[in-house]
Amino acid sequence: MSETTGQPATNDGFAALADAARDGTPVTGWTHNFYRYPARFSPHFAASAIAHFSSPGDVVLDPYMGGGTTVVEGMLAGRRMVGNDLNSLAVFVTRAKTTPLTESDVAGIRRWASKAVPTFGFQRARDELDAFIDPLRTKNLSVPRARFLKKAIAAALSSVGHLETVEAQQFVRCVVLRTGQWALDGRVRHTSLADFREKLQAMVAEMLDSLGTFTQAVQVSGGSSTILNGDAARLHEARVFREGRNLASLVVTSPPYPGVHVLYHRWQVDGRRETPAPYWIAGCNDGQGASFYNFGDRRQAAADNYFRNSLLTLQSIRRAMRDGGCIIQMVAFNRPDEQMPRYLANMQAAGFEEWRGGAADRIWRQVPHRKWHATLRGKTHSSNEVVLVHRAV
Ligand SMILES: C[S@@+](CC[C@H](N)C(=O)[O-])C[C@H]1O[C@@H](n2cnc3c(N)ncnc32)[C@H](O)[C@@H]1O
Repeated sequence: MSETTGQPATNDGFAALADAARDGTPVTGWTHNFYRYPARFSPHFAASAIAHFSSPGDVVLDPYMGGGTTVVEGMLAGRRMVGNDLNSLAVFVTRAKTTPLTESDVAGIRRWASKAVPTFGFQRARDELDAFIDPLRTKNLSVPRARFLKKAIAAALSSVGHLETVEAQQFVRCVVLRTGQWALDGRVRHTSLADFREKLQAMVAEMLDSLGTFTQAVQVSGGSSTILNGDAARLHEARVFREGRNLASLVVTSPPYPGVHVLYHRWQVDGRRETPAPYWIAGCNDGQGASFYNFGDRRQAAADNYFRNSLLTLQSIRRAMRDGGCIIQMVAFNRPDEQMPRYLANMQAAGFEEWRGGAADRIWRQVPHRKWHATLRGKTHSSNEVVLVHRAV
């Protein structure tokens, strides 16, 4: 395998990729479960693409990294990862999953779990927490099932400043984020305050363990990461790629999907009530509507918008890649017959040539009962996903 072109030596790479794409086992391992990012793909898929289509030391890019699945797997495989997303929540989560902690950070976080967490409760004075409860950022958390959890989360956020480093603070916010998602997002069952506190402590232990194991493995592999928070349509302008430096040999990604809206930026509390609380907890900015993260509005009339934005981003991605480099994408469609030809035309216009590695068919998979945007519930029972492999020409 060549070190710079990312080309597999044989067609075995395609066979392995097809197996990995169809693997339906739940996402586990390393730091992958720090957050359930919507529409994340399988770590096996990312790992297989990286193993068979690049070499250690190569730059591998995920321009729409979401929860950072590709970045985590690439670092473990000794690649120089560049991850990017428009969503500051995705950037927060990927950083939390990949940033090592010092021993003193770990000790401080364990103290937080044993000393601070038991104090998060009803007894806290309202005015003590008011400064941490922004009504806009906690919208819809006043429903009965969430009200007391909002107070417990505010208590948690008020304690974050006592941790000494930004890395430790980021980790603890991620613990609260994951526990908050577990307690609130799409949840039917009631979570008591005692359950919430117990879960926070369990999450600290589990996540410290996972991050420790991940950090050790990356020290051995020599992997690294650069994380960017921007529009993929301007990716080539990022400092990391200036003057033709660090061009990617391989891109592994899943872009926003044509005709399928995913709720990347909200949790749903009590049925369809949406809350921006994840940004409140992570301490990052949002202020955008759903269409911002989906290449445009949900309506069919907006399909043109989708393909216009998709083309702009693909063109920029091409400029961040080496000639002959490879791009592997998992793309979901709700009407593949209409959308796929347009998607492929965009790829060609952006400077990519499809590559099937001698296989007659593309790799497809059906994801039954996938949970998409609430307003599509009942209309979209399954989605069709395809793996597209192209070379930069
Ligand atoms: C399907 S998700 C990626 C999930 C990821 N593969 C994972 O495993 O978590 C698509 C991502 O594209 C991001 N996105 C949407 N528009 C973007 C743009 N113009 N530039 C960069 N990222 C964008 C969304 O915020 C979302 O995180």
